[in-house]
Amino acid sequence: MSESMTSFHNAVTSLDLSEWDSNEQASVVGDLEQGKVIFLPHLAFSLSEQEKHLLDPVWVDPKRKNISYQPLQDKLNGVADDAQEPAVRALLQRHYHSCLQLISAILPEYQPVLHTPTNSLRLHPVARWTQNTSWRKDDSRLHVDSFPSRPNYGERILRIFTNINPHGENRSWRVGEPFPTLAERFLPRLKRYSPISSWLQNTVGITKSYRSHYDHLMLQMHDAMKSDMDYQKNGPQVAIEFPPGSSWICFSDQTPHAAMGGQFMLEQTFLLPVNDMHDPQQSPLKVLESMTSKSLI
Ligand SMILES: [Fe+2]
Repeated sequence: MSESMTSFHNAVTSLDLSEWDSNEQASVVGDLEQGKVIFLPHLAFSLSEQEKHLLDPVWVDPKRKNISYQPLQDKLNGVADDAQEPAVRALLQRHYHSCLQLISAILPEYQPVLHTPTNSLRLHPVARWTQNTSWRKDDSRLHVDSFPSRPNYGERILRIFTNINPHGENRSWRVGEPFPTLAERFLPRLKRYSPISSWLQNTVGITKSYRSHYDHLMLQMHDAMKSDMDYQKNGPQVAIEFPPGSSWICFSDQTPHAAMGGQFMLEQTFLLPVNDMHDPQQSPLKVLESMTSKSLI
């Protein structure tokens, strides 16, 4: 594993916060927008004794990877047993509100502009979903997030994670190189964009909206990274352990990441318009537009 280009120090900024509604107003926006992982080693999410009974993969619908919740629609998906729904819903509502408090403490400039929140309760061990899956869906391979059926036209994917493992098991990640280096490496290998095939995919319902040139490149990059075993093994990367009772934040469309192990996690996703960033030039959209010298959306 090469750590020469990617050191822990370059990849991670630690912040010693133990309350979701902390009064410490310390913005981490600069480091986050550079693609660093913001690590909060003491930010735990406490579960009641009753909620601890929810930490069992048996509660996830076998057809789905995770339980997910859209708080603005109060829409819960993926719970295997209706009787557990009220407790899961209450847990995910409380988690969402905690994440909003965290945003207002350490990313206050994003508070008015983040949108489309979704959070998830992840109960399966990472090892379980890395087996029985195609290479394209194998998230133990380094990748940047890109949604195949939901083009997002350059909007940023901000994610907050918390390890809630009750048995002392870490969540283990690998984190890769900065996005501009990643894009330089992979851009020359990516297939050309075809507006006609994007139109077709949208017409037959493969995508929920028209896939832009940007979305095509991000999806291609996701696949090119995952299918390159030499890059997976020898590309620039650093291993990071997230213990139970810790949280971390990153732009998962920008920061190459791979989940190597662990079980039981809460995750909150928000989308952010590029022009609402402190420095939009750091976004994958602007980096790719500058490299290709064209507008991609
Ligand atoms: Fe991912």
